[in-house]
This record gives sequence, C-alpha cells and structure tokens, in this order.
Amino acid sequence: MKTARSIRGMTDILPEEVGCYQLVESVFRDILHRYGYDEIRLPMVEYAELFKRSIGSETDIVEKEMYTFLDRSDELLCLRPEGTAGCVRAVVQNGLINQGSIKKLWYMGPMFRYERPQRGRQRQFNQMGVEVFGEESTEVELEILLLCDRIWRNLNIEDLVQLEINTIGDLDSRKSYVTSLTSYLQKYSDDLDDDSKRRLSTNPLRILDSKDDKTQKILSNAPNFTDFVDHKSRGHFEKLCNSLEGLGIPYNVNPALVRGLDYYNRTVFEWTTKELGAQGTICGGGRYDGLVEKFSNKSSAAVGCAFGIERLVMLTRSLSSQENQLSSVADIYIIAVGEEARMMAIRCAENIRSEIPSWRVLQNLGAGSIKSQLKRANKSDSKIAIIIGPEEVASKCVTLKFLRDDLEQESVVESQLISRLKDI
Ligand code: HAM
Repeated sequence: MKTARSIRGMTDILPEEVGCYQLVESVFRDILHRYGYDEIRLPMVEYAELFKRSIGSETDIVEKEMYTFLDRSDELLCLRPEGTAGCVRAVVQNGLINQGSIKKLWYMGPMFRYERPQRGRQRQFNQMGVEVFGEESTEVELEILLLCDRIWRNLNIEDLVQLEINTIGDLDSRKSYVTSLTSYLQKYSDDLDDDSKRRLSTNPLRILDSKDDKTQKILSNAPNFTDFVDHKSRGHFEKLCNSLEGLGIPYNVNPALVRGLDYYNRTVFEWTTKELGAQGTICGGGRYDGLVEKFSNKSSAAVGCAFGIERLVMLTRSLSSQENQLSSVADIYIIAVGEEARMMAIRCAENIRSEIPSWRVLQNLGAGSIKSQLKRANKSDSKIAIIIGPEEVASKCVTLKFLRDDLEQESVVESQLISRLKDI
C-alpha cells in the first residue's frame, strides 16, 4: 500500500477536535454519575447471531449494514453496530439482573455500520448509551428523558433540539397493525419505491420511514398505528406525556416514529435537531421489555437510548463561543538555552505540574535560539513564557514574559516561582 488512507467512513478524530469530544463525553459521564448510573465496558466484537436475534434479521442494520466475518475458528462474528444487544447479553451472562432490583448502566464507544457515508453519518461512529433494567413504570422513561434534557442544557444546545415521542404498543398490537398495513399497501404495491416493495414482505413497518414522495403519499391514507395500540400501552403513554408536561419538557407526538430496530415496545423516542441537515437525530431509544427474555429464562422490563457523539460534537461546535472555550491552549511555555538552563527548565516544569495541577505546561523540546523558541511559544497560544538562559542560571532566577497581556516582563527567583504563578 503506497497511499496512507483510512477506510471510507472511518475517520480520524484530530487533536484539535478531541477537546470537543472530551467536553461532550465528560458532560455525559458527570450527569450519568449524578443520576446513579454505573459504567459497563463491552466488547466491540460479538457473535453475529446476537444482533440478528435482537435487532431483527429483516432490519436495515442486520440486512445491509453489519460488518460480519468468519474468524479463524469459523465462528460468524461481527463488529457491533450498536450497544443495546451487547449490554443485554452482558447483564444476562453475568447475572446482573435480579428480580425486584433495578440496574442502571451506561457505556461509550465505537459502533460500526456499513452505511453510505455523509455529513453526520460514518461507518465507524461513537455512541454513548444508557440502559435501565427492571422497572416497568414510566418513571424510567421520564428519568432518561430528564437526563437527556440536562445533557442538552449543560452543552448549551437545549434550544436546538426537539423531542419526538410515540408509542408502538405491545407485540400483539404491532402484529395486528402490520397485518392491516400490509393489506392496505398491497393494493398499491406497483407504485411503491423499490425498498418499500421489498419490505412489504419482510418488514412492512419500515415502509413508514420511506423518504420516497410517492410512497409517503400512499401512506397518508394508510391505517393509523395509534388506532391499534393496546389499552395498557396507551395508558402508559398518556401517563408519560402528562409527566413531561408537568415537568415542562416540550415534546411532539409523532405517530410515524417506529425506529429501525425490532426490539422496541411501547415508548419510542428521538431527539432531533434542524441544524445538521439530513442526519438530525442526535439520540434515539425506547422501551424493550421483551429482549432479556430472548436470551434468558428470566424476563425484565428495560428502557434505554443512545447518543451519537459525532452529531453532538457537530452541534456543540456550531456554537462559536464553545469553540473558543475548547481550544487546547497552554498556560505556560518554558524556554531554555544551554544545558544547565535545560535542567533548570525541566525542574521548573515538573514543579509547576505538581503544585498547580490544573495548568497546562509545555516545555520547548529541542534546541533553538530564544527568538525561535519564543515564536513557538506564541504559536502555542500560551499565556506566559518562562525564559531561562545562562544569565538566569547564574542568578537562580527565571524571566516571566506575558504573551497575551501588555505587562512588563519580570524576573522571579526560582524558589519563589510557584507562589508568584499562583498569584497570577
Ligand atoms: P440508533 O437510533 O440506531 O439506536 O442509534 C442511536 C444514535 O446513534 C442515533 O440517533 C445517531 O445519533 C447515532 N448514529 C447512528 N448511526 C450513525 C452513523 N452511521 N453515524 C453517526 N452516528 C450514528 C441505537 O443504536 C439503539 N441501541 C439505542 C437504544 C439504546 N435503544 C435502547 N437503548
């Protein structure tokens, strides 16, 4: 291979972008901790069967987007396309679900889907996710939606996002709706787009998501999902909506929202933004009470959601004030000329790192005149340069030069340096 090129849809996150990722991730970690969630770290590779059985073999993710391969023992494995299935596998395998107790977990990491790359859509992307096991009441959905809302407020993007919410009822209501939808659409099968034609026999619910105008026109007179939702699920949904209203969380009921994964029942939701064009969903999730049972002899109610980190980063970066706040500027740049000066510089740098741990201290690496080192110091955006040359070594002093403020440079005795810096 002659050219150094990454795989299409799998991009590098460069040093100047990492600050924004760290900010989004730390807000998420902090809020999840405060809400009492524990982190779980899951493998990136699982048996392909796990996703077929949980997400559904007729879904886009499983049909078209999984990175599936045989390993050297002829096991059919795949790079995880999402985190929920692996999390369910892990809680079952490790006996983390106990009847009568609630388990609240979060995870973060790369996911892989062979999709057509475009702005906000990669083949390797990062998700943060939360999953709660063991509680049937709407209080779990509510807690998750509240913590999402808190994340938006902490990232200052609360005015840029909207909550779309729907109920898809229990398994039986879904089955009877699918029957009714299929018989309606069969009458128009010649006029449907190609994907929808295929889905008519594989996964008719996904036709509701079609972007094709003609298909959407046909759908406008299709049976309404809401009319098929069972009584209990309807009550559950009303309770959730009332609580959201009571807590002042705006939402929009979207009857067309069914989500692209088969494991959901009752509540499904998405947080969307208009700022990112076509890939505007920054978080999606819902209830999946039947999934644990598929892998275990126990059953457990479950709710969760996952956030697309790249999309959140794009959204936060669109706010210029945060961009400034996030640029990785240094506090101190240490310049040394001569061997003895270099030793003194290392001592000073280490001392500052121990005594003022929050500061970012850069030491000039390699030789160079004071002038050329100062140039680098200016480029690093540091606030202060500490200059140490033969004169400073002789007098056991260092010179402080203020790079961003119009102040006189100062000479400070080495032993007084920390207390002087703490005063700045
Ligand atoms: P999902 O809707 O497939 O749900 O993905 C969640 C989020 O991941 C999306 O809303 C989006 O922000 C981001 N995302 C998905 N695909 C891509 C991509 N190709 N490039 C960039 N970002 C992407 C799930 O994965 C479920 N496991 C969520 C869940 C958790 N449901 C219950 N618990």
